[in-house]
Amino acid sequence: MSNLSRNSVAAILVMLLAGTVSFAQSSGEATYKTKCQMCHGEKGLADSGAGKSMKVKPATDPDVKKMSEAQMIDAVRNGSGKMQPYKDKLTDAQIKDAVEYFRTFTK
Ligand code: HEC
Repeated sequence: MSNLSRNSVAAILVMLLAGTVSFAQSSGEATYKTKCQMCHGEKGLADSGAGKSMKVKPATDPDVKKMSEAQMIDAVRNGSGKMQPYKDKLTDAQIKDAVEYFRTFTK
């Protein structure tokens, strides 16, 4: 096996592990990275391919910045626009932690 494909196998394994581990821990960062980052971007700027194609607003957008934590939790629990509801997929604690992590990008 070449080094390149060995590295990609390792990377896939790490991603699978990270996905499983995030259920066990309540770290907002881990939840954000596995569940939210693909659309909202590493720094909340929605600069990923999916974020751009779904026209996700960056965390620094005035409309996003003015939202309270409770409003954001509500958007994630019940869905917002093209974002699916997460209330059946994540616990309330996981949603709150992920939103708190997302809010660090609005500052
Ligand atoms: C499939 C892509 C996708 C994923 C995954 C996703 N979102 Fe969203 N999110 C959106 C879209 C689209 C909107 C509504 C468009 C907008 O206004 O930015 C949105 C809106 C929001 C909002 C309201 C502020 C805003 O930008 O309008 C918050 C807060 C938010 N998402 C947080 C999260 C969190 C936390 C997660 C992970 C648990 C997550 N999102 C996962 C696509 C996604």
